[in-house]
Amino acid sequence: MKHINTICVQGGYTPGNGEPRQIPIVQSTTFRYENAEAMGKLFDLEASGYFYTRLQNPTNDAVAAKLAELEGGTAAMLTSSGQAANFLALFNICTCGEHIVASSSIYGGTFNLIDVTMRKMGVEVTFVSPDCTTEELNAAFRDNTRAVFGETIANPALTVLDIEKFAAAAHAHGVPLIVDNTFATPVNCRPFDWGADIVTHSTTKYMDGHGAAVGGAIVDSGRFDWMAHADKFPGLCTPDESYHGITYAEKFGKEGAFITKATAQLMRDFGCIQSPQHAFLLNLGLESLHVRMKRHCENAQAVAEFLSGHSDIAWVTYPGLLGDKYHALAEKYLPNGSCGVVSFGVKGGRKAAEAFMGRLKLAAIETHVADARTCCLHPASTTHRQMSDAQLAAAGVGADLVRMSCGLEDAGDLIADIDQALRG
Ligand SMILES: Cc1ncc(COP(=O)(O)O)c(C=O)c1O
Repeated sequence: MKHINTICVQGGYTPGNGEPRQIPIVQSTTFRYENAEAMGKLFDLEASGYFYTRLQNPTNDAVAAKLAELEGGTAAMLTSSGQAANFLALFNICTCGEHIVASSSIYGGTFNLIDVTMRKMGVEVTFVSPDCTTEELNAAFRDNTRAVFGETIANPALTVLDIEKFAAAAHAHGVPLIVDNTFATPVNCRPFDWGADIVTHSTTKYMDGHGAAVGGAIVDSGRFDWMAHADKFPGLCTPDESYHGITYAEKFGKEGAFITKATAQLMRDFGCIQSPQHAFLLNLGLESLHVRMKRHCENAQAVAEFLSGHSDIAWVTYPGLLGDKYHALAEKYLPNGSCGVVSFGVKGGRKAAEAFMGRLKLAAIETHVADARTCCLHPASTTHRQMSDAQLAAAGVGADLVRMSCGLEDAGDLIADIDQALRG
């Protein structure tokens, strides 16, 4: 097997003799066929090929193949955003009247997707603390549970998921574990190595890495045996009448059923595909992902260590810090580094945090994270500004919390900027 560094650079696409060295952008909505029979075979999923970019495009597929290789999976697809990836991954196996078990420590947008929008669609959810005991986790399952969901490193709480614990519980109940691996990326953690079955990404973050293109991805490990739990997954294990009676798990096996169904059925109906231009930009980002992740983590570690020794800082959360609550899990699942995001509290609460951020010169105030340029956010005065201090505390987002996404600048310059902003 090739090293992950090599896959970042060369995975997914190998040009033939005289073909373009870089992945070509196939800027075409449609594809020409000589006769109706040839095209009919594509519609019957009897032959592989392209007919309409709302479902599939060669540029996307080359980049998706790289992602499958990076995660150690068998199949992958690109979506228009991380939100779309998480929605399709869940909705592919969990519909009206069914149930999801999810970690409560996940990105707010995903929490809302599951807790509000998917509930409106008739999907139920039970949230569990990522720190729950095995007994508490098992108690969250019901007969109609169809998936377990968590984030390798949660945004913004920076909790580290005990993937083996969640995978064991999911499998004991005959359902797959879906892990959003956005913050870690496969460079720092490959959830399939620890028992996860499906991985999702907001490629908008480190994978693109330059704040240039919104996108998402789903990767299948190819290991979950749908047919062994056919009663739970009729969408995969019984004929799809909207696709000429195909039974995905029979025709495409464990390795291909999940992504084929999500493409043929959900992408056809929802149309949330990534544009080939964005896929091209994503691939440029992937080519340097292994180099950038190392630097993001080094910078975040240096910033976290500086902050934790500073008299104006109340607390610091970063899995790479020795005393961090998730340090032991980070050592197990993220031995080469976690991510570039550090959360901390400025002494003096909301006003002090706002004033500190206003004085930063290198770190820009943005809602974004995981970019080449350092950015930061004070949730209490921006994304969570409608909440009182008491509500903020209940949501685990203190009024003093600053989330800093360390970029690729020089660590000394970042620390000097933070230092001058703290001194006021
Ligand atoms: C962990 C995680 N998952 C999913 C998303 C949603 O991704 P997107 O913004 O690309 O839709 C985000 C966005 O911040 C995220 O941090």
